Amino acid sequence: MMKRVVRLISGLNRRMMKLLFALALIAYIACKYTNLDCFDIVVSPLREKIRDLEQSFSQKYPPVKFLSEKDRKRILITGGAGFVGSHLTDKLMMDGHEVTVVDNFFTGRKRNVEHWIGHENFELINHDVVEPLYIEVDQIYHLASPASPPNYMYNPIKTLKTNTIGTLNMLGLAKRVGARLLLASTSEVYGDPEVHPQNEEYWGHVNPIGPRACYDEGKRVAETMCYAYMKQEGVEVRVARIFNTFGSRMHMNDGRVVSNFILQALQGEPLTVYGTGSQTRAFQYVSDLVNGLVLLMNSNISSPVNLGNPEEHTILEFARLIKSLVGKGCIQFLSEAQDDPQRRRPDIRKARMMLGWEPVVPLEEGLNKTIQYFSRELEHQANNQYIPKPKAARMKKGRPRHN
Ligand SMILES: NC(=O)c1ccc[n+]([C@@H]2O[C@H](COP(=O)([O-])OP(=O)(O)OC[C@H]3O[C@@H](n4cnc5c(N)ncnc54)[C@H](O)[C@@H]3O)[C@@H](O)[C@H]2O)c1
Repeated sequence: MMKRVVRLISGLNRRMMKLLFALALIAYIACKYTNLDCFDIVVSPLREKIRDLEQSFSQKYPPVKFLSEKDRKRILITGGAGFVGSHLTDKLMMDGHEVTVVDNFFTGRKRNVEHWIGHENFELINHDVVEPLYIEVDQIYHLASPASPPNYMYNPIKTLKTNTIGTLNMLGLAKRVGARLLLASTSEVYGDPEVHPQNEEYWGHVNPIGPRACYDEGKRVAETMCYAYMKQEGVEVRVARIFNTFGSRMHMNDGRVVSNFILQALQGEPLTVYGTGSQTRAFQYVSDLVNGLVLLMNSNISSPVNLGNPEEHTILEFARLIKSLVGKGCIQFLSEAQDDPQRRRPDIRKARMMLGWEPVVPLEEGLNKTIQYFSRELEHQANNQYIPKPKAARMKKGRPRHN
């Protein structure tokens, strides 16, 4: 009984604590000031209440580890309602930390983190990182930025502002409160690479005025800002150069290869391959990335680290694999996209040696999980009679609201 009470109390919020305390007080007074042998009568409703509360707690939230005050960190995740950010939120919450998600919901959505809303360790703030933020935290995972080409090209100026002013604001916050900041950078800082595979020493080959420049150059300058704050202000920084990642909660219409192919196959449409399909990509499953981000944050490596899966496939191979896993679809070739990198594959020797990290989820296993997620989403949309429109079609209507 005592153990259950202690476990329950550690999961209660202040309001619930007050309620329980009031009930206990009433029970105590009733026992003390009446001559009735009423202990059981008064205590049994209390016992039932505890059981109900216990049930409602265990039903509502995924299990959360208990961490002592000393080990529990206050963690800010910008872009935490997005694809990667929401999985990172899950991991850090389940590890027992206090997590604050800051998001302007440009590409993220509440649904990705709704299972934590109301939990005493969790807070969700609707905020644009282009505006300053004042909050007390120990660590900042700075992920806020649209990540897929249609999303970051939709409003290039906003993409630049998010990656520059937004990063400056988060570094300023890190400096003020003495927090460590991890920047979610990207393999796009290598541009269309001339060396293969790409290691962290490579400086990149980026077209500064091409359609992808707002994102590529935005992330490059964000890295520069991190090291300026580290050298000049002593801010502790970590920089993860993330390679293509996939998994559940990816945006269905974000125009990235994996989501495009899965969605097209599930809907019985042709899988569209740009150019000959000989360009290569290497995809990691999201849980591998999240483990790498947490390891990097808690390591002492301040220089950039590649996080990606070195298993390289041509786009055509991906199309064929997804087509066979879904069991339908055909392949259609379209003209090549501008500035589409020809080869992309991370050199992850640094992550292996210094973090002891490498991807462990096999490609097919990750793809199967993602296909299941997309099927459920399509079903959900059909049941809600929601007809998905391509993002670009919605975006053409006017200037974005999030600027
Ligand atoms: N997914 C990948 O393959 C990949 C690869 C390389 C790098 N990254 C980086 O990882 C991070 C997360 O990517 P993702 O795939 O989860 O993308 P995502 O679009 O799902 O998530 C980005 C989140 O940032 C939020 N956001 C955007 N602008 C914001 C602003 N101004 N203020 C507050 N919130 C804002 C969005 O609403 C969204 O929730 C990004 O920084 C991205 O550049 C991702």
